[in-house]
Amino acid sequence: MQLAKAFGAEVTAVCSGRNVELIRSLGADHVVDYTREDVTLGESRFDLIMDIAGTHPLRQLPARDDRGATYVMVGSVVDRFLRPILYGKVLTLVTRERVTSFVAKRNAEDLADLAERIDAGQIVPVIDRTYPMAEVPDAVRYLEAGHVAGKLVLTV
Ligand SMILES: NC(=O)c1ccc[n+]([C@@H]2O[C@H](COP(=O)([O-])OP(=O)(O)OC[C@H]3O[C@@H](n4cnc5c(N)ncnc54)[C@H](OP(=O)(O)O)[C@@H]3O)[C@@H](O)[C@H]2O)c1
Repeated sequence: MQLAKAFGAEVTAVCSGRNVELIRSLGADHVVDYTREDVTLGESRFDLIMDIAGTHPLRQLPARDDRGATYVMVGSVVDRFLRPILYGKVLTLVTRERVTSFVAKRNAEDLADLAERIDAGQIVPVIDRTYPMAEVPDAVRYLEAGHVAGKLVLTV
């Protein structure tokens, strides 16, 4: 979300109620609480949808108005993540939206760019909790529960 803002996008962020103020404070233009409202059923239309939770079926894409929107599946359980790869080209033909998956490729150049943006205060890393090494199992359990707000840090 912060990167999208840094690149000049008008951003609608989807999160649960407990994270609304956090997301707003990080610069989201609009925030939708997914526990109260289904963003795919609203009137809003988008140019780019980054689906990080991956909880909606592809057929519920909100960007159905032939503007050439792009839907990118970032995170989900494996079978859902594979669907854009398997059916993306067909869906793109039918809906005229680009449907695809994204897998991060880490490289020094991008990390340096992120570091510069953090140093400049353009991006603020959100750290939910910090754990000592001895408590890694607790950290992993918390992560696997799927409700970490931001990142966990291990102190070495
Ligand atoms: N494609 C790639 O290259 C790549 C790279 C890294 C990670 N991933 C994947 O991306 C996903 C997210 O990674 P992560 O590290 O951010 O995971 P995470 O820390 O487990 O994400 C948890 C966050 O997702 C929110 N969330 C849960 N359900 C949601 C929904 N329906 N709508 C909106 N927000 C929802 C939770 O908020 P609440 O607690 O409020 O529900 C929490 O803030 C994972 O599936 C991961 O495997 C993909």
